[in-house]
Amino acid sequence: MLVEKNAPLQSSNSFGIAAKAHALVRIRGQADIDAVLHDAALRDGPKFVLGGGSNIVLTGDVKPLVLKVEIKGKRLLHETAKAWIIEAGAGENWHDLVTWTLENGYPGLENMALIPGTVGASPVQNIGAYGVELQDRFDSLDAVDLTTGQSFSLNAAQCAFGYRDSVFKHASAPGEAPNAKAVGLKDKALITRVRFALPKAWKPVLGYADIEKKMLQSGQNKPDALQIYHWICEIRRAKLPDPQVIGNAGSFFKNPTVSAEQCEDIIQREPKIVHYQLADGTVKLAAGWLIDACGWKGKSIGQAGVYDKQALVLVNRGGADNPVTGGEVMTLAKAIQTSVYERFGLRLEPEPVVV
Ligand code: EPU
Repeated sequence: MLVEKNAPLQSSNSFGIAAKAHALVRIRGQADIDAVLHDAALRDGPKFVLGGGSNIVLTGDVKPLVLKVEIKGKRLLHETAKAWIIEAGAGENWHDLVTWTLENGYPGLENMALIPGTVGASPVQNIGAYGVELQDRFDSLDAVDLTTGQSFSLNAAQCAFGYRDSVFKHASAPGEAPNAKAVGLKDKALITRVRFALPKAWKPVLGYADIEKKMLQSGQNKPDALQIYHWICEIRRAKLPDPQVIGNAGSFFKNPTVSAEQCEDIIQREPKIVHYQLADGTVKLAAGWLIDACGWKGKSIGQAGVYDKQALVLVNRGGADNPVTGGEVMTLAKAIQTSVYERFGLRLEPEPVVV
């Protein structure tokens, strides 16, 4: 096992923040995990699992041992009457998996094309886009308990998926009743493999304004999965910055939800507010619109900026040579939260993990 000391992380986080890992070990399979857990110096210390680094803000050098997940492989595991079960290693690039499934005739992930990050990170925040969330296509996953070294599998219910949320984002809360959130797995488990159930009776998920626009423009009202995949790629490339060119972590805040009464109250004051009715009676508000309405689009604090085509995305304006710091990103994020709170009385919750 190779322990890399003072390992640079700038190219391992999509913001391009220039932090270092005090120590880093690459995990390519079970043997690497076993080696870490049998090493007297590493076994008991805190650990931080790093995937594609597309949903983190590094506010300094990382002191816990960084486990960089590089477990590869994608295959059709088996099929049931209703679904193809696809299995992929946690270190596979998410978009490459989406492309591979479509090329091999297993549709279902097309609406989530071009989401940055790795397969192993996809269940952690239950990624989603254009009406499909990971939990809609999820079968199960394998993980390793970083304290005991034991492997275990979780089904969807055990992952306790929510909007950009899962059991992997919560620390365990001692004393609470044993439910999935109470036995939170934050920093406790390393996801090794994820399995997806892609339905044989495929149906397109349309309905989002951007997709409707593509249908109108092209005159195609019965798109197949590959067509939707290409549209999603075009839509995302037009409005979201490519992290290879401008560092960012996707949407920086979650879209807040409010009760129907609260929404009515806000609409009285802000008639133009973009909102979506949810099935449970609550209303989701577009955080990008709220931030935009406060005049943040295109603004900067230090090298941290608000993307000029989508106010929900914070970007690194300093590039690789003079990169943004995690502190600047968080200062900008706090200033945005304050102004959205002062104007709308709403608290925005960051989406990325702050390290
Ligand atoms: N809007 C503005 N100004 C802005 C940005 C947005 O007025 O600067 C308005 C838009 O015009 C639109 C509404 O806000 O009416 C919503 O914007 P958009 O359709 O771009 O989607 P979003 O709510 O900003 C969410 C996800 C994205 C996902 C898209 C498409 C969250 C936090 N974000 O964005 O996910 O790709 O929907 O489904 O749920 C991510 O999580 O990193 C991510 C990119």
